[in-house]
Amino acid sequence: MSRFEIKAKDGMARLGRFTTKHGTVQTPLIMPVIHPGKSEITPQNLVSDLGFQMVITNSYIIRSQEKFKDIALEKGVHGLLDFQGPIMTDSGTFQMYYHNLPSEEIDPLDIIEFQRQIGSDVGTILDVFSDPNVKREQVKSDVRLSYERAKNSVHHKGDMLLAGTIQGGVYPELREKSAMNMAQLDFDVYPIGGVVPLMERYRYADVVRAVLAAKKHLPPDRPVHLFGCGHPMLFAQAALVGCDFFDSASYAKFADSGRMLLPTGTVHLDNLTELPCGCPVCSNTTADELKGLKKEKKALQLMKHNLYVTASEIRQVRQAIRDGKLMELAAIRARGHPELLEAFNVMLENSDQFKKLDPVGNTSSILYTGPETSRFPIFARFHQQILSSYPYSSPKTLILVPDLGSNPFSDMMPNLITALRTRNPSDVVLGFVTPIGVVPWELEHVHPAQQCVFPPSLDLTTRANTISRTTDFIQALNPDKVQWVSRNIPLDNIVQTLQEVFHIEILAGVAKAIESIEGYPEGRVDGGRRKLGAVFSFQWRMKPEFLQKSDIELKVSRKTGKIRYIQKDEDILFTLVPTTGLLTPTYKGGRILMTEGISDRYMVAVNEDAAPFVADGKSALAKFITRAHPDLLAGEEVLIVDRETALLATGRTLLSGPEMLAFSRGVAVIPRHSRE
Ligand code: GUN
Ligand code: ZN
Repeated sequence: MSRFEIKAKDGMARLGRFTTKHGTVQTPLIMPVIHPGKSEITPQNLVSDLGFQMVITNSYIIRSQEKFKDIALEKGVHGLLDFQGPIMTDSGTFQMYYHNLPSEEIDPLDIIEFQRQIGSDVGTILDVFSDPNVKREQVKSDVRLSYERAKNSVHHKGDMLLAGTIQGGVYPELREKSAMNMAQLDFDVYPIGGVVPLMERYRYADVVRAVLAAKKHLPPDRPVHLFGCGHPMLFAQAALVGCDFFDSASYAKFADSGRMLLPTGTVHLDNLTELPCGCPVCSNTTADELKGLKKEKKALQLMKHNLYVTASEIRQVRQAIRDGKLMELAAIRARGHPELLEAFNVMLENSDQFKKLDPVGNTSSILYTGPETSRFPIFARFHQQILSSYPYSSPKTLILVPDLGSNPFSDMMPNLITALRTRNPSDVVLGFVTPIGVVPWELEHVHPAQQCVFPPSLDLTTRANTISRTTDFIQALNPDKVQWVSRNIPLDNIVQTLQEVFHIEILAGVAKAIESIEGYPEGRVDGGRRKLGAVFSFQWRMKPEFLQKSDIELKVSRKTGKIRYIQKDEDILFTLVPTTGLLTPTYKGGRILMTEGISDRYMVAVNEDAAPFVADGKSALAKFITRAHPDLLAGEEVLIVDRETALLATGRTLLSGPEMLAFSRGVAVIPRHSRE
């Protein structure tokens, strides 16, 4: 059973809790590497003064030196380090690789046994480290040997948690193979190993490839550790592709050579006149004073600085996950090094893997950081979802209005919208052309349509994406006629490129567009119902026939004029949430979704133990989930049902369908409204 639970998600990142015998820690987590012999800063101080939660030390070093070994065997590793918090131990794999030790040096089972004897909270198997320079055949045999050892070791873990390292060098298919095999064994943590030399050579793209390959097959309910990743500039990117644990010897190594870690990269003290940081060390001294210190004292001060910066960046990563802002943070961090930008782009190329885990229903703003922004999976998904769900296809006229997405589109042209609201969608459809694609008027308030902020002049990638998404939309909608409302903004000029493919009539300004719309007869059309039809289709892929019934009322906010509720006989059925532009059903609304034939993708079933609690308004815990659709995403509005598919409650998923089935701890669906 896993000790891991998820509290929030963003991208492939997880804000989680991991429970050990010596306490529960919050993830993403960074463990400073402690050398048992020399700790100028004690583990206790790391926790109490610097905000770390857990440390990692090396059982091979402890075992190979009599003075450490005797104390560790007598008082445990917690006694040796004089620390009562959670301690992970490594196995000696890296030492064997680094010092080229013969394989007889350590027995793989002895080292497991030793880690258990000294009371490690999380031990590590003796995996085989493949150097990035060795041939594929060698890596393949290293992977095989690591797996053989893993199979033997896992039976000896006893009540110690055990980490089973994924190897496979720079070969994604070997990483996949390694992960597939290791996933069959009951490890509590899955580290990605063999990446230290890659990180030392700035080969971050290879690191991201290795992580993504492994993540395809690792059980979602186990934390993933990126072995040897201690530079804060990498945390956001690594967390974003799903790494939960990090360890850092860098803080000491870099300090020894006069280097200062920063979230934006590394600087050498010798090159500084001013200290570029606000940590207690940098705030209380000057560059010259630091430079003037004796070697050991200087290293200690730099080490403290490095630790402050490391701890602060991991806190920033956790906050970004809570805020749905990790993608943006990683994009900003990617400016720290061109190879980090390359790694970011590798991740974007794998957006299919990413989109399955990235939660929906986010409310955060997304600020442009560069050409990569329009390629963010959230926008690609929004665009695809509009193409596949927008219900009003084949109109006589499609009117396109260029807009950058940052201003409430229709507020800019109230008269146009007034005219549109009373026309039939089979006559005229209005779409706002933005860098994230064409946003139909009906969906303009759905996140992220108006939460993304692009600069007025588009870079070439963003421009190309805008053109290709607009092309997709026109093709999917298949109108008889396309009109473009010229607004004298830089986005206007993409119309020339579109005109190479489509016949597009240019309208000189909004007044002309109103004329065009008024050319169609007023119908008995309700703009609000038209809007909701598109939202239901977008959100649950369904056509809500019930909306046409005469006893269904739309309640509009007096202040904003926007729809707030769908009601029947004074009962609220659905709330339209202003921040997401999406609907949340009440219990009665949930009943309607069922009678309207909602797809079982949006139903989550719990077992009979949990059913009464869920019906009473309690969270649906992952361990009670018996059915969840493989395509269900985190953040979706769903129905919680019992084994007989009777509705217990409505709620919002915290986990994706596959995650719900995998996890044995934590919440799967947060309830909105329940039966009782
Ligand atoms: N420390 C840094 N890299 C590795 C690795 O690949 N395996 C183990 N066990 N420890 C490491
Ligand atoms: Zn500092």
